[in-house]
Amino acid sequence: MRRALPGGFELDDEVERVDVVAVHAFLSTDAYWALGRPRAEVERLVRGATRVVGLYREGRQVGFCRVVSDGASFAYLADVYVLEEFRGRGLGVALVREAVERGPRPRSWLLHTRDAQGLYGKLGFGPPSERLMELRPNG
Ligand SMILES: CC(C)(COP(=O)(O)OP(=O)(O)OC[C@H]1O[C@@H](n2cnc3c(N)ncnc32)[C@H](O)[C@@H]1OP(=O)(O)O)[C@@H](O)C(=O)NCCC(=O)NCCS
Repeated sequence: MRRALPGGFELDDEVERVDVVAVHAFLSTDAYWALGRPRAEVERLVRGATRVVGLYREGRQVGFCRVVSDGASFAYLADVYVLEEFRGRGLGVALVREAVERGPRPRSWLLHTRDAQGLYGKLGFGPPSERLMELRPNG
């Protein structure tokens, strides 16, 4: 899948196209949930994802997210970002929409977020049902 967006942006789910150096640079320094994440781990997570969606402009990686799924019961959305200079013009919604509307079709989509509930709410995410539990071994 390759899809052009207005403004010269492009979505692509080709894993080989992901610029792991750029994704690691953002996640390890700017993402509150992944500060200091080693490059090898980012590489492993990209390669091991059920699906990745990259956002590109003139060949440059300007956004990313990844999906992990068993293809039936759940899909987990993670590491969603758009570079700061390109935010606020709908690219975050386009990126997440691509992730959840194509690829795995699970019964339940899950994610963690500190403050981007507004973004995911636009795509149908809401508070967890009473059936959902979480175990956090490290707090
Ligand atoms: C979250 C992020 C991907 C949104 O990207 P974006 O391209 O600016 O998103 P959009 O322009 O599509 O905005 C979509 C909507 O979500 C809202 N939104 C975006 N980021 C938000 C945030 N952190 N908290 C609450 N709402 C947010 C916007 O207000 C916007 O709503 P509006 O159009 O009604 O104003 C981007 O801000 C980002 O990369 N942030 C740093 C990393 C991060 O926090 N990722 C999410 C981890 S769960």
